[in-house]
Amino acid sequence: MEKEKRLRSRDWFGGADKMGFVHRSWLRNQGYPDDYFSGRPVIGICNTWSDLTPCNGHLRDLAEIVRRGILEAGGFPVEFPVMSLGETIMRPTTMLFRNLASMDVEESIRANPLDGVVLLTGCDKTTPSTVMGACSVDLPTIVVPGGPMLSGRFRGGMIGSGSFNWMIKEKQTNENFSADDMHEAEICAARSAGHCNTMGTASTMATMVEALGLTLPGFSSIPAVDSRKKVLAQLSGRRIVGMVEEDLRLSRILTRNAFENAIIVNAAVGGSTNLLIHMIAIANRIGVQVKLEDFDTMGSKIPLLVNLMPSGKYLMEDFFYAGGLPVVLKELEGFLHKDVITANGKSLIENIAGAQCYNRDVIATLDKPFQAEAGIAVLKGNLCQNGAVIKPSAATPKLMKHRGRAVVFESMEDYHMRIDLPDLDIDESCVIVLKSVGPKGYPGMPEVGNVDLPAKLLRKGVKDMVRISDGRMSGTAYGTVVLHISPESAIGGTLALVHDGDMIELDVEKRRLHLDVPDDEIRRRRAAWQPPKPATERGYVRLYLDHVQQADKGADLDILVGKSGSEVKGDLH
Ligand code: FES
Repeated sequence: MEKEKRLRSRDWFGGADKMGFVHRSWLRNQGYPDDYFSGRPVIGICNTWSDLTPCNGHLRDLAEIVRRGILEAGGFPVEFPVMSLGETIMRPTTMLFRNLASMDVEESIRANPLDGVVLLTGCDKTTPSTVMGACSVDLPTIVVPGGPMLSGRFRGGMIGSGSFNWMIKEKQTNENFSADDMHEAEICAARSAGHCNTMGTASTMATMVEALGLTLPGFSSIPAVDSRKKVLAQLSGRRIVGMVEEDLRLSRILTRNAFENAIIVNAAVGGSTNLLIHMIAIANRIGVQVKLEDFDTMGSKIPLLVNLMPSGKYLMEDFFYAGGLPVVLKELEGFLHKDVITANGKSLIENIAGAQCYNRDVIATLDKPFQAEAGIAVLKGNLCQNGAVIKPSAATPKLMKHRGRAVVFESMEDYHMRIDLPDLDIDESCVIVLKSVGPKGYPGMPEVGNVDLPAKLLRKGVKDMVRISDGRMSGTAYGTVVLHISPESAIGGTLALVHDGDMIELDVEKRRLHLDVPDDEIRRRRAAWQPPKPATERGYVRLYLDHVQQADKGADLDILVGKSGSEVKGDLH
């Protein structure tokens, strides 16, 4: 009786009236027997499968395995599609649609007779968008991460998805990298189903959900095509039924302590800068305060323990064989909140009791880390009053303190037009300034912050330069790149006021990014600044432009922050 009272699906299927008839009758056309409607927990399998999201192309098969587990545990599985975001395909950028996808997930869960949800995720934005949407409903929810591709191999070496892309211009400029070479590399890079195999954003997001306690232990690093992925998918299907019985909702797992753990873990694995934006947005949905500064104060003293591209040399497959995330969690035990509850109903510390490392070249110890301090540094200064970020483990140490002359590009289009002009007045000491790539600016905050260096400097052997922008950077990328400048240039942040020839000072140790222009002159430029026209007057993009918040707030729509719960008001039938 008590169990039935908690199942919201009974509001649909439990009635003896006309509407009970309607809700059951039409579903019966799928051939469900009576017992499916008499008190089984109804579990939604929220699937981000799409042919247009190659990283999630195997999720249809995985959904069948999850379905098996739900049935075994006595649940009633119902799979439903949601908007999928394919990082490499969508234009102008998937980030423009993360919030839209989260709305789809939220409303699909709330509007349907679901008691619990399994989120099938993979490519970068498919994890945060589904978790954000699910948080705003707050039902028992478990995540099944789709897993990384097998390691790419190219002419005897490793080829990391994404990370290799950032070398192409240099290879073409300096190594006679031909069209045939390119074709061969293209085929070698993506050997199997799964998402990017570096510690890029997709792996970072999968690691994040495991560190938050939203997956079964050890799930995030298993390659997409490994049979153990299927085992854990099946067990996740079984487990979500138990979570419904225990009423283990997202808000019971996603506490402030869980977020603190995930911040520390992200530092130790050298995770993507994109984590900050997505994690802040998730925390704001569930009602936990996580500030930009938290990532620095909690994460930047944590050593880098994982030797994965783009900060290191291995790939996710190696990480899994070395023991995966449970080994990192065990190593970090002294820094973590140990009593947080996770999806399997056990505490974090219980889950990692048996973790063992099988390759110390891939996962280091705290005593002998790959880098003494990692994490993400949060900068402040007159160029970024609300903050900006840089990933020191992916940057060039000697550029972490740098003063250079600004070479300004007003937009990506301007950058593409001029960056390789022979007479562009630029040398390796300059600071490349890219405007209009923030949340409102592009719009959608694309991953362009790590723009390629000018060909003439690459030919000289220059490998890195300071680049600053209000955009993001792919988690697979590297370089001394300052990102997420807030407020962004499109709303009149100081970045909008930088002119060619201004001097810019970066001091990562002092967490400072400064435009060395007198305050009076900045005020004069600000008074003369004109806001750009909105990119469109209609549709979702108009809604996005009217409501998107800045990067330091997670770039969520202000109207989506928080949760509305699972109650549905009004039934007009
Ligand atoms: Fe999908 Fe990298 S492109 S995870």
